Amino acid sequence: MKTTSTLNAIALAVALGLTSCGKQTGTSQAERTANAVASYVAPGEKDEYYLFYSGGHSGQVYVAGIPSLRHISTIPVFAPYPATGYGFDEESKKMLGDFSWGDVHHPALSQTNSKYDGRWLFVNDNANNRIARIGLHDFKTHQILGPIPNSIGNHGSSFITENSEYILCATRFSVPLPKGRVADPKDYEKEFNGMVSGIKVDPKTGEMKVGWQILTPPFDWDLGSTGKGPSSGWAFWTSYNTEMAHDTLEVNATQKDRDLCAIVNWRAAEKAVAEGKAEMMDGVPIIDPAKVPGVLYFVPIGKSPHGMDVDPTGKWVVAGGKLQPATTVVNFEKVQVAIKNKTFEGEFRGVPILKYEAVVEGEVPVGLGPLHTQYDGKGNAYTSMFIDSCIVKWKLPPWTDEEKKDLTKVVLDKVPTHFSTGHLVVAGSDTVQPYGKWCVAMNKLSAGRHINVGPSQPESSQLIDISGDKMKMIAESYTEPEPHFAQILKVTDVQPTEVYPKDENKDPNAVWEKAQSGVTRNGNQVDAKLMAIRSRYNPDRIDAQVGDELTVHVTNVEQTRDMIHGFGLIEHNINMVIDPGETKTFHIKLTKPGVFPLYCTNFCSALHQEMQGYLVVWEPGKGPATGATGTGTGSAGGAK
Ligand code: CUA
Repeated sequence: MKTTSTLNAIALAVALGLTSCGKQTGTSQAERTANAVASYVAPGEKDEYYLFYSGGHSGQVYVAGIPSLRHISTIPVFAPYPATGYGFDEESKKMLGDFSWGDVHHPALSQTNSKYDGRWLFVNDNANNRIARIGLHDFKTHQILGPIPNSIGNHGSSFITENSEYILCATRFSVPLPKGRVADPKDYEKEFNGMVSGIKVDPKTGEMKVGWQILTPPFDWDLGSTGKGPSSGWAFWTSYNTEMAHDTLEVNATQKDRDLCAIVNWRAAEKAVAEGKAEMMDGVPIIDPAKVPGVLYFVPIGKSPHGMDVDPTGKWVVAGGKLQPATTVVNFEKVQVAIKNKTFEGEFRGVPILKYEAVVEGEVPVGLGPLHTQYDGKGNAYTSMFIDSCIVKWKLPPWTDEEKKDLTKVVLDKVPTHFSTGHLVVAGSDTVQPYGKWCVAMNKLSAGRHINVGPSQPESSQLIDISGDKMKMIAESYTEPEPHFAQILKVTDVQPTEVYPKDENKDPNAVWEKAQSGVTRNGNQVDAKLMAIRSRYNPDRIDAQVGDELTVHVTNVEQTRDMIHGFGLIEHNINMVIDPGETKTFHIKLTKPGVFPLYCTNFCSALHQEMQGYLVVWEPGKGPATGATGTGTGSAGGAK
């Protein structure tokens, strides 16, 4: 069989390490010096860009600097992170709900007029069908939405529209809907469905809610992007498994030479819902595209494609076919003409399939395993090559007649990467005005190019200078698992706070001076309000009894940058970290008697080690009567 033999040939090429990009040649001393200088950020100096990269199944987002590639900060999102106390205080525990991990894939910076506006970063959770919003005013997670109803495998997400109206999502998996209904996977074609979701974003607060959904056939939707300019109001996703296989997908989902990709008119979807053309399922208005023409179109794209990326002009949409040695360039103006003239090559379940030849500008022979494409805003595209392990730079249309006859002529440059590049990011590629300059290749394998750390190997990322005609490999670093995409933001385009101002703290349990702090009892409810300040808690003793419900609010009254205090409680699985001006709360039921030290977990001063105290849990009915004991007004012991 042709398909299987092609796959075998590719597998063999990978196993033998045969790549058309060839081996990286030795670097001369002059190049080494120039590269070192290009990525060097001297002590005391700062990077020029943020790199926000997704942490895959670590559930987190990581912040590195460009050009240094140094890891600077971890933003916990879908998993607890004791280093910042995330997942231990009541607010973040509530956001995480029943889940302690997520699978973060594609971060998206908020946009206004198709430019980054420095307000929010959205990320998806492929595993538990969620979307999170990180505020760029403090680089913290502020909302987790989901699990999204009728959505399984929130992989084709988060793709943000040009004015952050929506986060658009498509499902990787299909199941019988609504969730909870059971059907035999053998009846996959008939019983299973996928979904495109429009998550509405409040323009002032960033608060997300599920807006509407579009029912799709059970294809596996993959990467996507949103339109701008001529493609304003549209969105695009590749798919694999147009074969609708339910087992052995490696073989059964790679039979067809072209898969059907989705072209969605999200403004038409929004309008159809407003006009009452949707039906409710699990509380969400669902559009059946067979009944609402104009919302969804298919376009055939070869072969098992991954990325489908709109260029900064909004006219070209480039898809990477994992199993064909070319990228496919769709001309969106031709898409509009084809829709108008009904130039279709058929339909699937009532959805028109645009005629391939009518909308495709060309197939660019970039090499083996093209996955994902980014742009520099100067008419160039950069495609990651998973099998060839390189980045290919090529020229977008318009092409000359001579180039059209032989599209190898538009392939401008290749730079080897190590190894198996999955995603790549060019600074600002998804805006109308890319910063250009830098490209980061996010490689799936590092294959031992670092000091030996045993069998659990990190991924590697490589920094490439794309400012000249030829790309230059500058530096390499190792990342947390597992970057699936990233966003690059110029440092001057955002101004995060470094201290929460006291007068903006609206927590009713915040305390700013000794007289407000203390411990009170109401029945079996014990409430402690603590101040944290270098280098003590006030009060530093809490008395309570077995059976009590203990709530502790800690306010860090510092108003100085980097004066962070922690609150660890021995043998109770509690560690809060409280930033300057912040109040955090935890709640526990006291089940065992004893004296439990509490201490500051975050280094704060020369007397950090001395910043400690006690939770005294007395047997029921025992302990001091309510009133002051120890240092501060710390006691709420005794029977009431
Ligand atoms: Cu406060 Cu260490």
